[in-house]
Amino acid sequence: MQLVGYGDPPRFELREVPDPEPGPGEVVVALRTAALNRRDPWIWTSPGYCELPVTLGSDGAGTVVAIGEGVVSTRPGDEVVIFPTLGWPEGAEVPGPDFDILGAPTPGTFADRVLVPATSVAPRPSRLSWEESGALPLAGLTAWRALFTCGRVTEGSKVLVTGAGSGVSTFLVQLAAQAGAEVFVTTGNPAKAARSLEIGASAAFFYTEADWPEEVTHRAGPLDVVVDSFGDGSLAAGLALLRRGGVLVSFGDTGGASASIEIAEVYWQWRSIVGTSMGSPAEFRALLAHTESASWRPIVDSVFALDELAGAAERLSSTARFGKVVLTM
Ligand SMILES: NC(=O)c1ccc[n+]([C@@H]2O[C@H](COP(=O)([O-])OP(=O)(O)OC[C@H]3O[C@@H](n4cnc5c(N)ncnc54)[C@H](OP(=O)(O)O)[C@@H]3O)[C@@H](O)[C@H]2O)c1
Repeated sequence: MQLVGYGDPPRFELREVPDPEPGPGEVVVALRTAALNRRDPWIWTSPGYCELPVTLGSDGAGTVVAIGEGVVSTRPGDEVVIFPTLGWPEGAEVPGPDFDILGAPTPGTFADRVLVPATSVAPRPSRLSWEESGALPLAGLTAWRALFTCGRVTEGSKVLVTGAGSGVSTFLVQLAAQAGAEVFVTTGNPAKAARSLEIGASAAFFYTEADWPEEVTHRAGPLDVVVDSFGDGSLAAGLALLRRGGVLVSFGDTGGASASIEIAEVYWQWRSIVGTSMGSPAEFRALLAHTESASWRPIVDSVFALDELAGAAERLSSTARFGKVVLTM
């Protein structure tokens, strides 16, 4: 299902293309499911981002159907999830200059088959459905790194997640709650507040109400970690809610490209602001190992057939959405 025209709405076309052939160190995965991310609309509304047509899609789960020369880590028939980070060398603290994300310009997962390096596939958690497996990689990995590498969240940490309804936020709430943290969220409506409480949050606050920061302080006291992907007002407010030495983790700017903060809210309070994107191979393995034995499940908002991608794209931008929008092949 290829992007053939930039815009909002974008133009997609179901096209027949030759099956990819694996080169040395590569594998072909027959996809069962894929999932949309905020990156996809960002690309289809950025004319000139790459040449068209292009196949979008960073998340996927499926079965290995062909392996290239020298591949020993996986075999045809293996059920796998796809590690969507490209160019993050094993053992490196941050990615190298080749950092990218699968799906434009490299052909992505909104397709029957995808060609990836053998290092980009890992056994899928066996307790998850195909839909849940496809929903896990990008958002789960981003949440895992944000909480545990950047925020150093442990049992008893007080964590605020701003904007509870997003794809990544549902993973943040579930992962932090499973680690024994006390989780608070901000959100836009009562239905999402109720869902957040169901999946592990202790309390929800409405960012539509001007006094939400005071409400958080009243209920939770000073916080250890705030994880924010909105920016704008939520980043500055979140920073001020931290205890001395607390950490604000930033992984997105849905609310706009810039935000203002009081500088003394950082240095005079011994706080840190840590930026993060995606995650390393080791962090992906840690997420998968945890997921295998944990009790939470990825939240799937809705499921569309591959040729209903336009409908899936519309659902992604709906404010009623809670969790991930998934495609089945
Ligand atoms: N750096 C990375 O590796 C990475 C990876 C994934 C995503 N991202 C970025 O993270 C962001 C979220 O992505 P996503 O796909 O998970 O998001 P999404 O599903 O599109 O959700 C948008 C979010 O904005 C929230 N929001 C709206 N107004 C708000 C306000 N005034 N204060 C706080 N939150 C508000 C919404 O909260 P409610 O729904 O609760 O009302 C919703 O959670 C995007 O900017 C995306 O580009 C970055």
